[in-house]
This record gives sequence, C-alpha cells and structure tokens, in this order.
Amino acid sequence: MPQNLQSAGPAEALPHRNLDLAVVLPTFNERDNVAEITARLSAALAGLDFEIIFVDDDSPDGTAEMVRSLALADPGIRLIQRIGRRGLSSACIEGILATPAGCVAVMDADLQHDERILPQMLRKLRGEALDIVVATRNADGGSMSDFSAKRVFLSGLGRRISRLVTRCELTDPMSGFFLLRRTFFLEVVRDLHGGGFKILVDMLASSRRPVRVGETGYTFRNRIHGKSKLDVNVIGEYLFLLLNKLTGGALPTRFVVFTLVGALGLLVNFACLSLLFVRMHLGFAASQTWATFTAMTGNFFLNNLITYRDRRLRGGYVMLGLLSFWLACSFGAWANVTISGSLLRSGAHWYFAALAGTILSAVWNYSVSNLFTWQMPQTNRAAAAAPIRALDPGTDLNGPRI
Ligand code: GDD
Ligand code: MN
Repeated sequence: MPQNLQSAGPAEALPHRNLDLAVVLPTFNERDNVAEITARLSAALAGLDFEIIFVDDDSPDGTAEMVRSLALADPGIRLIQRIGRRGLSSACIEGILATPAGCVAVMDADLQHDERILPQMLRKLRGEALDIVVATRNADGGSMSDFSAKRVFLSGLGRRISRLVTRCELTDPMSGFFLLRRTFFLEVVRDLHGGGFKILVDMLASSRRPVRVGETGYTFRNRIHGKSKLDVNVIGEYLFLLLNKLTGGALPTRFVVFTLVGALGLLVNFACLSLLFVRMHLGFAASQTWATFTAMTGNFFLNNLITYRDRRLRGGYVMLGLLSFWLACSFGAWANVTISGSLLRSGAHWYFAALAGTILSAVWNYSVSNLFTWQMPQTNRAAAAAPIRALDPGTDLNGPRI
C-alpha cells in the first residue's frame, strides 16, 4: 500500500464523487421498459450526479440481461439480481441499502411514474429539510389517470386504513414513488416488516419519531408494456403489514390473521344456521352440521388464499388439506364444548368458560392446521410459490425481514 494512503481515511485517499441521487427501480418482467426508463431518467436528471439501481427478482423475460447490456454502456447503471426471492418492498430495501448516495428515489420501472418531477422532489427534500418526499396522485397537480372506479375506491380505503398505523396525514400513502434521505432509512430499516407492496406505509409505521414528510403531485400514467403485478395477494400482504404494525409484533401475524378468518367463519356459521333452521325449518342438528361445515370450508379456502399464501396448497393437495382441516377443526369444536362445559360445572362464570373454550380451540386449530394442513408438499412448488411469495420460505411471519 503506498505510504500516503496508509493513514488517510478512505474518503480522503480516493477520489470520490458527489453522488446527488440514486434511483432504485424494482423490476419483475419489465424487459421492454428498462431501456426507456433509463433514457428518460438521464434526460430528467441531466446536470445531477446520479446512479440507477435495478433490483430484479430473476424475471423470466430476461430483464436482468437487458439491464446488464445497458450497464455496459453506462457505468451509472447497476443491477441487483435476486434468485429465489420475490417482493416489491424487500427489493426496494435492498436497492436502497446498496447505494452510498445520501438521497435515494424509489419508483416503478414501468414508466407509470413521472420521472420529470424528481429534481423538484430533490429540491423540496433538501430545501425543507424533510426526511421523505412522496410523489402523490391525489395532491395538487396530481391525478389518478383513468383508473377504474373499483381501484380508486380500494385506494381510498387503503389510505384511510393506513392512517391507523402511519400517524401521518398523507394524501397518497400507497404510493410506490418517493424520495428519501438514506439517514432516515437507516433509522427504520431494522424495524421494517419488509413483506408486500407497501414499503412507504411500512417505513412511516416503523419510525419511532414523527417523520418530516412532503408531497409533490403528478399524473399516474398508463402502462404500455408488460402487466401489473398487483393482485389479491397484495391485499393479503397489506393486511399482514397492518396487523404486524398494530400488534407491535407482539402476536404472530399469521395467528392474528387465522383468528380473524375464524371470526368471519363464526358469522358464516350463524348466517347458515338462521337460513336452514329458522327459514327452511330443517332440524337443529342437521342445520348446525351443514352450517359448521360451510363455515369450515370457507375458512379453509380463505386461509389458503391469505393466511398461508406463501404455502398455498394446489391441485390434489387442496382436497387433502380440506379433509385435514375439517378433522382438526371438528376436534377443536368438540374440545371447546367439552372444556367450557366442565369449567361451567366447576363454578366458573359462563363468559369465562366460553372465552377459555374459544381461545383453546383457536390455538388448537391454528397449531394443528399449521403443522399438518399447510405442511403438505405443494404441487409444482417453485412455480406456485414464485408469483406470490414475498417472504423467504420458513420465515416467521412476525419478525423483521428484508
Ligand atoms: N423486484 C421486484 N419484485 N419488483 C417487482 C415485484 C417483485 O416481486 N412486483 C412488482 N415489481 C415491480 C414492477 O416490475 C414495477 O416496476 C413496480 O414494481 C410496480 O409494480 P406494478 O405491478 O406495475 O404495480 P402497480 O402499477 O399495479 O402498482 C403501483 O401503484 C400502487 C398504488 O396503486 C405501484 O407503484 C405500487 O407500489 C403502488 O402501491
Ligand atoms: Mn405499474
């Protein structure tokens, strides 16, 4: 090592750049968009020193190869290619962690976000000493483009619910387009849930102090190439994120979701019972049996869709799973009645007896179905898991993960 480099720190020893901004672009099957977004960013950020980081989850359409060929021509383009992993939030987290830039923007790679507002966002972040500037579709100058009424409604609902955990008055907390200071990100990164699509809600909910947030409006564009990956799983992921933040990580999120599904099952049970017994005058035992089986079946499918979305049973295993779920829950119901009955006989209050029986059967149902029903091999495991899994297999759904 040369003498003059030995005592000097790395920043003094090496020529270094003043990196103004890093732009993190998560990609999944965006091959036809990456060259265009790169060109548009270069035009929008002319005059700034910036780098672009693509985080690709091994897209089958060859997005990563396309990014590599762009990077050969431009050293300001980098690629993180993740194998066997999926998830928009976790991709953003890894992209932000990979840059030394003090300010980092995150946006979609599909040209739906208007890159031309980035310099304005950067000026706002610096000028107003903010932690984060959110590009929003609802603020002044912003618009939802020609979104369907259903999506506008869902977006509004998600916004209201997110206030519960973010404690922030944001017009568009579901936005996937924002610019932040890396120092703020490092404050929250270890508390992030990391699953799903809603990294912004995750960061705001994880901060231990009020976050200094600003907003810049823009018009959300329509997609030209490729398809949106937002589907029913994304809603499930969002539910998990909210519960994780609301319970402060105290209860396993999977158990909370399982119990919520169970509570819904109770309503289904009552609705069926009143239909069969009260309206159709079927015998009570027969009505109750049909109602219970209907509720259990509904619960099985909901759990398979949401609670165990990362271990979803498919094909022939669905029937086998349903059978084992019926068995587990029938025993749970029997234990509930037996235990609460004997508590009542030994002098406990009726509500205490009922509560104890219910908690016991919920824990039983959860443990047994977790151990047996959703431990079965899934058909075509790799293909089944790939589009929906935001988490690594086997991770506890409660802990922070990246
Ligand atoms: N690496 C990685 N892994 N990238 C992903 C994944 C994934 O699992 N899923 C999606 N992406 C990338 C897409 O390639 C795209 O660049 C970006 O994330 C957004 O995905 P879209 O599938 O296009 O999302 P959208 O347009 O439906 O949803 C947008 O609007 C939502 C609000 O309505 C996104 O900006 C969301 O973040 C935002 O919440
Ligand atoms: Mn999109």
